[in-house]
Amino acid sequence: MCEIAEVDARTAPDDVLARFHAIEVACHEELQPGEPLRGVEEVIAFYRYQPATHTSCHWLGDCGSASLYVHGSTAAFVHLVVAPAKRRRGLASALLGRVLERARQLDVRALRGSYATASGAGFAAHVGALAEDQVVRSILDLPSADLPEPRIPEGFPAHHLARARPRRAPRRVRGSASGDGRRSRPGGNGDPEQVRRERTGIRGIALAPRP
Ligand SMILES: CC(C)(COP(=O)(O)OP(=O)(O)OC[C@H]1O[C@@H](n2cnc3c(N)ncnc32)[C@H](O)[C@@H]1OP(=O)(O)O)[C@@H](O)C(=O)NCCC(=O)NCCS
Repeated sequence: MCEIAEVDARTAPDDVLARFHAIEVACHEELQPGEPLRGVEEVIAFYRYQPATHTSCHWLGDCGSASLYVHGSTAAFVHLVVAPAKRRRGLASALLGRVLERARQLDVRALRGSYATASGAGFAAHVGALAEDQVVRSILDLPSADLPEPRIPEGFPAHHLARARPRRAPRRVRGSASGDGRRSRPGGNGDPEQVRRERTGIRGIALAPRP
């Protein structure tokens, strides 16, 4: 049987906590298909900075891990996972043995875990776990969604930015008559108010309804 080590996540170095991430990566497609994978920094931070409001204990074996979170004697949770390549060798059973031993020391009377796979169901049956609630997760699957064509609401002109000719930015002229650094020539273009409107006007094009 492989060695199992308890990990003090608050003081363990990054490379030890990164092993939890490696196990997550190995099981990701099976446990969260299509969902984003947590990065190694996030996993390290998750284990290292658990809230002090509950007791957290962690164990690592050869490509398998177990965590125990004790919020109270009937609010204790186990998280157990073994990489596919290392399964059916008794690793999860050994990890659970360590979890149960600690849970008893902490006066835990009910320990809860969850599974979403056939292996989890088989293991739960093997250890004599009682079935409780079923959690249904609703997952947004955008890549396979049949989305309608975008439609511009009635009364709003379409303005294609790709085809729009770039506007020239108003030039600043040093030492202008107005003294504010803006171009000031007769005929309207030098009007500071108009220059300000030109600068901000692009935001109004797509939103303004037709008169
Ligand atoms: C569930 C899991 C942790 C089991 O890890 P493991 O190291 O393979 O478990 P063990 O070798 O200790 O298996 C002990 C017993 O559980 C049962 N079991 C384990 N995997 C099983 C499977 N795929 N199908 C049916 N029964 C299974 C068997 O009775 C097995 O004994 P056996 O190998 O002598 O037949 C692992 O498959 C896993 O990580 N699954 C995905 C995560 C998960 O569901 N975690 C929730 C655990 S409650």
